Amino acid sequence: MEKIIIKTPEQIEGIRKSSKLAARTLTYIKQFVKEGVSTELLDQKIEEFVRSHGAVPATLGYNGYPKSSCISLNEIVCHGIPSPKTILKNGDILNIDVTTILDGYYGDTSRMYTVGEVSPVAQQLIETTEHCLNLGIQQVIPDNYFGNIGFVIDRYARAKGYSVVYEYCGHGVGIYFHEAPQVDHSARRNSGPRMRPGMTFTIEPMINQGKPGTFVDEKDGWTARTVDNKLSAQFEHTILVTETGYEILSEVDREE
Ligand code: MF3
Ligand code: CO
Ligand code: CO
Repeated sequence: MEKIIIKTPEQIEGIRKSSKLAARTLTYIKQFVKEGVSTELLDQKIEEFVRSHGAVPATLGYNGYPKSSCISLNEIVCHGIPSPKTILKNGDILNIDVTTILDGYYGDTSRMYTVGEVSPVAQQLIETTEHCLNLGIQQVIPDNYFGNIGFVIDRYARAKGYSVVYEYCGHGVGIYFHEAPQVDHSARRNSGPRMRPGMTFTIEPMINQGKPGTFVDEKDGWTARTVDNKLSAQFEHTILVTETGYEILSEVDREE
């Protein structure tokens, strides 16, 4: 198996800066998330903001991906491609996922946004998904097993009547966009490798209202949707394993 990179303090500082820029981009974009706005416009604002801070959007040209962010509405699980044809409407829920390359270091984070009045069902899915991410983060402590992240996420999502997407996972991040290990959001207790100080990776659970299955749009080769057309939500952070626990590298003050 591919080795998990232990980052040096200098690398960690670089990944922290990049992650915080990605997070600040997500905070910045919130003001533009409104009924009638296209996801293309959001993507342009994201690209502008990232570049004006000396960074590059990592998704642009990544395996042929055409845009600076992923914007996934409603039944789209992940990898929604921003488009002038996708116009936000009242009641939509969406995930915006930004990955930055700053001084060569990668930071990867995503959040949910709502447009106008959303249904209580959608609101509850969003809250549950954010809690799933937080439960996963609380498992980050030296010597714990990566599998315990997925174990607690899956247990909580199921208890709420939801399902966990197993076809897309979290991942090591920092020096490259996607590094070892694969971070499953549904896993057996005490399975997988163990966490060590200096590891950096994402936790990014996608939680479905209905069935866990997804399928990729044949036309664009990216957009992943729920098989039953029901809603999906996702939150993502870049996390560092410290000597005593974790640091959320992609966390910024909400006021920022
Ligand atoms: N940011 C996504 C992740 O969390 C990856 C997007 S890859 C892309 O891993 F090519 F679809 F942009
Ligand atoms: Co990621
Ligand atoms: Co991401």
